[in-house]
Amino acid sequence: MATEPVCVCVEDFEKIAEEKLPMSVREYYNSGANYENTFKDNRKAFGRYKVRPKYMRDVSNRSMATTILGHKVDCPIGVSPVAMCRLAHPDGEVAVARACAKLGRCFILSTMATTGMKEIGEKAPDCLRWFQVHILRDRNLLIQLVQRAERAGFTALVLTVDCPVYGRRHAEMRNDFNLPSTHKLGVLEGLRSRTGMSEEEREAGMTKFLNNLFTSAATWDDLRWLKTITKLPVVIKGITTGDGAREALRAGADAILVSNHGGRELDSVAATIDALQEVVEAVEDRCEVYLDGGVRSGLDALKAIAMGARAVFVGRPILWGLAYAGEEGAEKLLQILGDELSTDMALAGSNSIREISRDMVVHKSYYSSKL
Ligand code: FNR
Repeated sequence: MATEPVCVCVEDFEKIAEEKLPMSVREYYNSGANYENTFKDNRKAFGRYKVRPKYMRDVSNRSMATTILGHKVDCPIGVSPVAMCRLAHPDGEVAVARACAKLGRCFILSTMATTGMKEIGEKAPDCLRWFQVHILRDRNLLIQLVQRAERAGFTALVLTVDCPVYGRRHAEMRNDFNLPSTHKLGVLEGLRSRTGMSEEEREAGMTKFLNNLFTSAATWDDLRWLKTITKLPVVIKGITTGDGAREALRAGADAILVSNHGGRELDSVAATIDALQEVVEAVEDRCEVYLDGGVRSGLDALKAIAMGARAVFVGRPILWGLAYAGEEGAEKLLQILGDELSTDMALAGSNSIREISRDMVVHKSYYSSKL
């Protein structure tokens, strides 16, 4: 009798997903832009930071609980917005939202999700959920989406600013990747559009469809406008520079998510963990800062938190968890990441998220400079 493979870390999920997912889906999920410098560096960069533990602390009563934008979470490792989760498992985004609800995590739903907001609200009512938006060519569509998010219990908007145009992902281009006709972009279903988005247009190819839906003319004034049509806080996703953070704050950002889209947009942008310090310094405690990109362990989370991130998010790993075993797989993956963070907090000498201090992490050059 075949036994289920045991997963003890994110890499185990990745390997199983590799076998389970059809080639074109796997390559859509796992690829980065151009020659994948940023995509690869996101992972490698975490290895450039070393932990300086503090021993003989009482770490017997650990808690990972914290708040993000005033909402309590049991662990500051949440889920980034990733498109088309139903290609990994039929339960798709619902499975992820339910896993997040069970474990007290934050879930960010993508505009490109294969499940609508109402369904998420109904099937995972206890999930702390934020909704990711782009500035759309048709502002009327965006207003409708924001209103849907508010009605469905989403408590923040996450405005993605790092893809004014669709990045060039070679594998996706070679495969001419498109959403299979058996699936729908649930979030966008039934919207009334003045510019018109016909089924034929949707089927004409992902790049063409998205470049038509999104606008490459967005500016910070569009954030100012977005703030006038909603009372929800707006998190800016896609910042990797101090200047970017300051501009976002001036235009009304309520929080910043340091991200480079998992290396899927502009190649050669800094790895997010390398960019974090500059952003945290520019923000000067005026808002919360989060990070995604290459987080594959609780230890990665610990490093980012020590360097000033209030929370971290994972993108591809949740797709691997879904591919492994739907809701159960997503839950198991998030549970493992939490267990790792808890263990590494103990080993580094912190009983709470607050006790993960800046001096616990240094760049590896700290040691070579002493040679
Ligand atoms: C994404 N990402 C993304 N971001 C966003 O703002 N809107 C979206 O619709 C998507 N869609 C999407 C699809 C897939 C398949 C991937 C892999 C990523 C980017 C995502 O939110 C996040 O920034 C990265 O995935 C984080 O990097 P890791 O954790 O995948 O390394």
